[in-house]
Amino acid sequence: MNLASYKTKSLHGEVTCPGDKSVSQRIVIIGSLLNCDMRVSGFLNAQDPLSTVNALNSIGSSISINGNEVILKKREVMFKDPEQVLNLGNSGTGARLLLGLISGLGLRSTITGDSSLSKRPMNRIIEPLNMMGARLSSDKGMLPISTHASKIMNNFEYEMPIASAQVKSCLLLTAMSAKKNIKITEPKITRDHTERMIDFFGGDIAYGNNQNSRLIELNYSELEPKDTFNVPGDFSSASFIIVATIISKDSEVLIKNVGLNESRKGLLEILTLMGADIFIKNQKEISNEIVGDIYVRSSELNGVDVPDDIIPNIIDEIPILSIASCFADGQTVIRNASELRVKESDRLNAISEGLLKLKIKHDILDDGISITGTSKEIRCDEFINSFDDHRIAMSFLISGVRSENCVRVKNCKNIETSFPNFKDIMNSIGMKIDDEN
Ligand code: S3P
Repeated sequence: MNLASYKTKSLHGEVTCPGDKSVSQRIVIIGSLLNCDMRVSGFLNAQDPLSTVNALNSIGSSISINGNEVILKKREVMFKDPEQVLNLGNSGTGARLLLGLISGLGLRSTITGDSSLSKRPMNRIIEPLNMMGARLSSDKGMLPISTHASKIMNNFEYEMPIASAQVKSCLLLTAMSAKKNIKITEPKITRDHTERMIDFFGGDIAYGNNQNSRLIELNYSELEPKDTFNVPGDFSSASFIIVATIISKDSEVLIKNVGLNESRKGLLEILTLMGADIFIKNQKEISNEIVGDIYVRSSELNGVDVPDDIIPNIIDEIPILSIASCFADGQTVIRNASELRVKESDRLNAISEGLLKLKIKHDILDDGISITGTSKEIRCDEFINSFDDHRIAMSFLISGVRSENCVRVKNCKNIETSFPNFKDIMNSIGMKIDDEN
């Protein structure tokens, strides 16, 4: 499926963006461990969380989905070995977190994914899981991965060599499902939805006080069931609406009920540093996550050097930050972001290929990119390749608002993994995104 995004005059309106993907995945996993009747609202009904739900139901969970509501039912039976291979599709979070859960439960299973997920590095979880007492075998550190009977040790301590919320969450879930304590040190602070959720259900999570790294300590205790859980709106999805509004002329948009977790909203800090006009309203706490409404207006941006420490916090927003940088005065430099090479695509390469087509001056670095903005409208005569990556597809479609004609993007189907109503939401505030042959 190809999409074209046409030049637009201005964007206006009020929107609610879909549920948070990371939180949606975690609530069905932790909800399964809780084994209680629970109603989840605001769930992201998109391919990635659905793959996770299907896999969980194959190991004995009882989860049903009705639009954005999820019903978890108390099971009569224990978790069981799945009868079939568990296919996690495009979902790196689903695969890595489930491998943690399944290892802790000591189930025998095989996990696969689509062609993109099958190229992503899994040694980052296989090694610590095996050190912890799990037994995983893989195809050269990639999917498919099989899990065998395990004996998870108590009080495992692990210093993560890379800052990854998926690795941290995988290990926390292994310890939770095996009923063990664990201590993990992350080199930089990464998203903490798993810790917050464990805490929300009465688990014992504590943090150590290191300067640049963070120690997370889980002392196992039984979690306490709750009847309901609310998933906040996805900040990463909101970031497309934010940047579209900032780079459009005479625009103002209110995005309601967005997750504003400190470990996720770094893009607001960077955009504000660049000169963006953004306000937060109605901030409150829901299900142990901060949510609020984001009010954003057209803004003149300046290029910035993005601080290294914030990279894990904005890792999914770098493609759309790159589009904002195209329309900033001067250069924006992003470094220390080599993790982008092992996401749904090699995102540094995908951003660079797209910028070439937009004729935006940039330099690709080993671990980042530097982009020189333009005050002119862009002209793009060739199709941009999404590399089957949802965030690359959406980012380049947003650049269409500043085109002389339109920006056409190839293979946009993957948008369904995280933001199925992207086209409708963007069009509802004035963008013109249409199917293209
Ligand atoms: C995620 C963590 C991030 C992010 C991914 C979702 C999560 O990856 O890129 O889209 O839900 O834990 P890292 O493992 O690199 O932090």
